[in-house]
Amino acid sequence: MLPAQMQILRAEFIKSAAAPIGFPTDGLPEIAVVGRSNVGKSSLLNKLAQRRALARTSSTPGKTRLVNFFQIERRERVPLLLVDLPGYGWARVAYRERKQWQGLIEEYLLGRRPLRGVLLLVDARRDPGDDERDFLPWLARAGVPVLLVVTKMDKLRAAEREKRLRAITSELGIPREAMLLTSAESGAGIEELWAAIDALIVREAAPE
Ligand code: GTP
Ligand code: MG
Repeated sequence: MLPAQMQILRAEFIKSAAAPIGFPTDGLPEIAVVGRSNVGKSSLLNKLAQRRALARTSSTPGKTRLVNFFQIERRERVPLLLVDLPGYGWARVAYRERKQWQGLIEEYLLGRRPLRGVLLLVDARRDPGDDERDFLPWLARAGVPVLLVVTKMDKLRAAEREKRLRAITSELGIPREAMLLTSAESGAGIEELWAAIDALIVREAAPE
């Protein structure tokens, strides 16, 4: 069980949006989850929310096609929205539909005032590709703070861990300390991830 301050008092699906007109307008701070299809975005969101099936997960890539907003309320913390974005790199989807999703993600990330930061997810078993490599500088240019989250750590044997993590850090050109190692299966790293999310929210809330 997570410590008392991590207790989730409420976790609720708010809405799905296919265009900016459908985004919530209540101004709660938002943390968005991005990453290629099947990396474990919805699973991580469920684990953060301590709910089994808040966000829909699937072994079929490209399941999440809308921007989905979930309101999370924790003990002694400000409420926030976790935002499940469609995965990129959907091989099995028609080009036109792909373009449409990409446009939606970009519109959200570039224009969203309540956005406090992005969790960029990378599968522990895969080398990051062009998508991830391009995304980091793109987010930096857009002025969006990023937390790099490695998912599915439970799938690595102890002997593989160092090698895999070295491959990911060198591909992305970021230091090992900057990565959060997580598993939506075991719950590893979830508490640390919440702490990192809170740091983003508090930083933004400070007077200018
Ligand atoms: P899209 O919405 O299609 O972009 O996928 P997603 O990124 O939301 O991935 P999702 O959470 O649906 O997970 C994809 C598959 O990976 C599912 O079969 C999950 O059960 C599995 N999975 C996700 N996270 C973990 C994890 O930490 N460990 C293990 N072992 N499996 C995981
Ligand atoms: Mg999903």
